[in-house]
Amino acid sequence: MSTTLGRIELPDPVLTASGCAAAGRELAPFLDLTAIGAVVTKSIMLNARSGRPTPRMAETPSGMLNSIGLQGPGVEEFVAKDLRWLREHGIRTVVSIAGGSVAEYQKLAQRLRHEPGISAIEVNISCPNVESRGQVFACDPFSAGSVVQVVRRHSAPDMPVLAKLSPDVTDIVAIAKSVLEAGADGLSLINTLLGMVIDPDTMRPMLGGMTGGLSGPAIRPVAVRAVWQVHAAYPRVPILGMGGIRTGQDAFEFLLAGASAVSVGTAVFNDPSAPARISAELGEILTARGINRLSDAVGLGHTMQARHVAAQEARRAAQEEKS
Ligand SMILES: Cc1cc2nc3c(=O)[nH]c(=O)nc-3n(C[C@H](O)[C@H](O)[C@H](O)COP(=O)(O)O)c2cc1C
Repeated sequence: MSTTLGRIELPDPVLTASGCAAAGRELAPFLDLTAIGAVVTKSIMLNARSGRPTPRMAETPSGMLNSIGLQGPGVEEFVAKDLRWLREHGIRTVVSIAGGSVAEYQKLAQRLRHEPGISAIEVNISCPNVESRGQVFACDPFSAGSVVQVVRRHSAPDMPVLAKLSPDVTDIVAIAKSVLEAGADGLSLINTLLGMVIDPDTMRPMLGGMTGGLSGPAIRPVAVRAVWQVHAAYPRVPILGMGGIRTGQDAFEFLLAGASAVSVGTAVFNDPSAPARISAELGEILTARGINRLSDAVGLGHTMQARHVAAQEARRAAQEEKS
């Protein structure tokens, strides 16, 4: 079950997803956090933020909409309390960072550069760029690349940098290309999809912030498609896949599409032990299929599809020859 995300070696392929388990502490009573792949922390910003107005959550068919708005204590308190707690408990930690400007990402990378106990930095670029009329970094190849470039340049040279992409784009491969050229070691796919729910009683948007991020099983096909497309274009680039993973079978689907590891987010809200359970279920699926090493399943869906197409073509050619 061990896997790698580029330079990160993980004994287990299931991680938490940013924003769905804070810094892990709340999940500690439910599972052994040192046994899962890693805790991916809630995206941290430079300064403390109270987030967006309430209500911040709405239930949707097979999913949920959230508009938390990157509420958090700011990087200093995060380092002093959360990162310290994770380090003291020997928990592998991926620190997610977010900013409103390229300079803010740079300061975050510089601040974390000498902190021990960080396995990788995940760069959340699904944030509005205050210097560009609020355009989301992740939706523009140049802005996405600019952020990743400064994080890469100001992080320790051996620190793996994962860029987390948004599915709210026309061509996710173009964004992947830009962040990889900017120095990302791997990709986290996908962040939430922008959505809205209108309350039929009040006849206005349900969320205080009006729009929110859609997550949960409803988005899984979109996430699997994104992983498939990016793996097809960059088969050697490590992918951390996520979006609606609730069972081992869901995680298996992401491996087949090309992910080397997965993050579990929304599922932990109703089953806090989900990362450990999903890992156990995935292990059983691999064993039942005679797949001895997890890495043998990574991208296997592409090989199976190519074989299927080749067999179809061979059959067609044989039929044509006969007639
Ligand atoms: C309540 C909530 C808060 C989230 N906060 C963050 C965040 O701070 N940073 C981030 O990169 N993604 C955040 N996400 C997105 C998740 O990490 C994940 O990419 C997405 O929800 C898809 O996975 P899931 O369907 O398993 O939840 C958040 C998701 C939810 C539901």
